[in-house]
Amino acid sequence: MSNTEQKRILLIGGGSGIGHAIAQAALERGDQPILGARDPERTASTLPEALRDVPVVHADLADEHTIAALTESGPFDAVVSLAADTANGPVSSLERAAIHTAFDAKVAGPLLLAKHLTDSMNPGGTFVFFSGVAAFKPAPSLSVMAIVNGAVAFMAEALAVELAPVRAVAISPGIIDSGLWDFMGDDGKRDFFATTAAANPARRVGTPADIVEAVLLAIDNTFITGTTLHVDGGGRLA
Ligand SMILES: NC(=O)c1ccc[n+]([C@@H]2O[C@H](COP(=O)([O-])OP(=O)(O)OC[C@H]3O[C@@H](n4cnc5c(N)ncnc54)[C@H](OP(=O)(O)O)[C@@H]3O)[C@@H](O)[C@H]2O)c1
Repeated sequence: MSNTEQKRILLIGGGSGIGHAIAQAALERGDQPILGARDPERTASTLPEALRDVPVVHADLADEHTIAALTESGPFDAVVSLAADTANGPVSSLERAAIHTAFDAKVAGPLLLAKHLTDSMNPGGTFVFFSGVAAFKPAPSLSVMAIVNGAVAFMAEALAVELAPVRAVAISPGIIDSGLWDFMGDDGKRDFFATTAAANPARRVGTPADIVEAVLLAIDNTFITGTTLHVDGGGRLA
């Protein structure tokens, strides 16, 4: 991929899965990724070889002090928030604390990123927030996931208007083989992916590379703002 100028890209919750892939693509095209993580030492110690020189700073989206301190790592061309925490289960079993943790990671924390970092954005800069297909295809026991991801999509619209000309874009991945699903074990993951692929109009699950392309588009194309890029193989329609 080509890039006309080096960009400083802060990736919050970028210490795993899709975040690694974005950081690697950014490095390969000459950008400067910076990772923000709740436990920077642990994240730094688990980085793949290709990312070993990428700085890791403290960023906990449930802790406003760490968010405010991110100004010291600016200025930025993009602030990408990948953070996610779940509160899955039937509504009748939901715990208030888990609901708040999920909202901190995807909604309140990203809003505080906008509060503290808008003045640290270079011209043409953008916030990129991660939504997800669960918002657009709700399922039982995933209501909190649907609601927080839906809020992300509306947050991109609201912030694009309020923070202009700083941009705000949401990315909505479908099921991505990012490592997130490894807990299912080889057989469980294979079955889940086969079922998902059969139902998706794209007839496959996604890869981190699919998401990387969308994130770089959101960063580079300064006419994209206030919208959600669905990178879900059409899964929300299946
Ligand atoms: N993979 C998929 O199939 C899929 C589908 C739809 C949407 N998405 C979305 O895509 C994004 C990236 O997904 P992924 O697969 O890379 O997920 P992941 O590997 O689970 O990454 C999520 C990251 O969020 C971080 N995090 C959680 N709470 C945080 C907080 N309060 N402050 C800062 N960081 C926090 C975690 O860091 P720790 O290491 O500190 O726990 C972790 O690095 C997520 O927003 C996810 O919801 C993914």
